Formats: sequence, C-alpha cells, structure tokens
Amino acid sequence: MSPPRTLLVTGGGIGIGRATALAFARAGWHVVVTDILEANGQAVVAQIVGTGGSASFATLDVRSTGQADAVVAAVLAERGAIDALVLNAGIAHKVPLAQLSDERWDDTVDIDLKGMFRVARAALPSMRARRSGAVVCLTSLMGVAWGWTEHVHYSAAKSGVIGLMRGLAAEVAPDGVRVNAVSPGYVRTAQLLSAEHSLGPEGVELAAARVPLGRVGEPEDIADVILFLASDAARYVTGQVIVADGGLAIMPQ
Ligand SMILES: NC(=O)c1ccc[n+]([C@@H]2O[C@H](COP(=O)([O-])OP(=O)(O)OC[C@H]3O[C@@H](n4cnc5c(N)ncnc54)[C@H](O)[C@@H]3O)[C@@H](O)[C@H]2O)c1
Repeated sequence: MSPPRTLLVTGGGIGIGRATALAFARAGWHVVVTDILEANGQAVVAQIVGTGGSASFATLDVRSTGQADAVVAAVLAERGAIDALVLNAGIAHKVPLAQLSDERWDDTVDIDLKGMFRVARAALPSMRARRSGAVVCLTSLMGVAWGWTEHVHYSAAKSGVIGLMRGLAAEVAPDGVRVNAVSPGYVRTAQLLSAEHSLGPEGVELAAARVPLGRVGEPEDIADVILFLASDAARYVTGQVIVADGGLAIMPQ
C-alpha cells in the first residue's frame, strides 16, 4: 500500500484551516498543521491522532521566509513529499482609508499575499521535480467581485492572490503541478465573527438572510471544496477560482 499523501496547511489551528486539516485527515491524508497559534494547532493534531489519523504540527509564521523554507524542508525530509499545499493563513483588519498607513497596508499584504508566495516558493520545486502536487489558495469574494469598505488593503491582497495563483498555475503546469483558489463568501469563523474587524455575531445573522442558500457558510463547506481541488477528481483543473458562497455573488445587493 502506498503511504498516505501529505498536506501542509497554513493557519491550520482555527477556522477554515482547521476544518481543512480535519477533512484531509478523514480522507486518509497525513496532515502537517502549521500556524502561529501553537496551542490551537496542537489541539487539531491531537484531535486527528485521537480519531486514528496521522498529523504533526509546526510553527510557521508566513511573514518569515526563513520559517517557510525551514518548515517545508523539514516536512520533505520527514515525509519525502508535500502532495498538497493549502495557503490559508490570512488576516482581515478593518482600517478606514484615512488611517491606512504604509505599515498597516504592509502588514496585511505581507501575510495575505506575500505569505502565500513565500510558502509556495518553498514547496513548489519539490512538487515540480516529482511532477505531482496541488496548491490551493484562499481568496475572498472581497477580492473576486466586491469592494469592502475600510478593508482596501484586504481586498487588494485577495485580488492579488488570484494573480499569484494564475501566474504560478501557468508556470508550473508543464511540470504537472496544479494551482487553484477558493473564494468563500461569508464563513462562520473568528474572522467573520469579529465585531471589531468584520460583521460580528449580529451582522452574521443579518448576512445569512441575504445568502440565496439561506445560511452563512461553515468552515467545512469550504474545506470540502479545497479537498476536491487537491484530489485527483480535479486532475484537469488548474488556474481557476471556485466561488463557494451560497450564491451571494449572483445576487444584486
Ligand atoms: N471567514 C470568512 O468569511 C472568509 C471569507 C473569505 C475568505 N476567507 C479567507 O479564508 C482564510 C481563513 O480565514 P478564517 O475565516 O478561517 O480566519 P481565522 O481568523 O479563523 O483564521 C486565520 C488563521 O490564519 C492564521 N494566521 C494569521 N496570521 C498568520 C501568520 N502571520 N502566519 C501564519 N498564520 C497566520 C491564524 O492564526 C488563523 O489560524 C483567510 O485567508 C481568509 O481571508 C475567510
């Protein structure tokens, strides 16, 4: 029997990243959970191992090229391959344009866009050499279709993720490696539930009423799409954004 395939997910301690780790583990993958939230990441690993799966944790701050390179090298040394890479780590801080300093802009773009580039750059050479692998990036409806007031930096970064994904997809396709993106709409996570930076609990309930499918998404709704894109079922799909938003994008607001 071939050994389980290996997933590396960034920001895997909570939210969509956590649900992704659990979904891949259920599908029989070995999961490398990475995050700056060590306790949360370790808890995800414990949950996977406790239910008969295989997982490990590594601290990875996507702002650090050194950490990205070192974590990828360590996983490759231990596992021999990274079969899927989910670039999920992200922040969405609310900053009105008048207060959007160079530093605030750079913080968000460094995590949400360059952070994905750093980890992809570290992992892609081994995928290309093996002529196998799939990368999935998390963008947002705020990058695909909508502007988001007081989140200019976030919308710019998330639109940038689509350019990053397309550029990478074109460059590595001849080597048999696929790169795609998933765009969630509203998903019930700490990010969306933050009243300071996003909709907050009451706003989430109001938003649910505007979703054609009648509810906001759960992290598992997104994780299943990510798992599909990483699987052989999506073997002929590359350079695409799959919108998983309950129908929001087709609705006049
Ligand atoms: N929740 C939504 O409605 C929604 C909608 C569209 C897109 N997204 C995107 O999906 C992804 C996951 O979002 P979520 O809702 O699960 O958010 P979340 O806030 O619940 O989780 C974000 C994760 O990223 C990690 N992270 C933050 N900074 C990091 C850094 N410097 N290095 C490594 N990890 C870091 C956090 O520790 C956390 O584990 C993000 O890219 C987000 O922009 C979410």
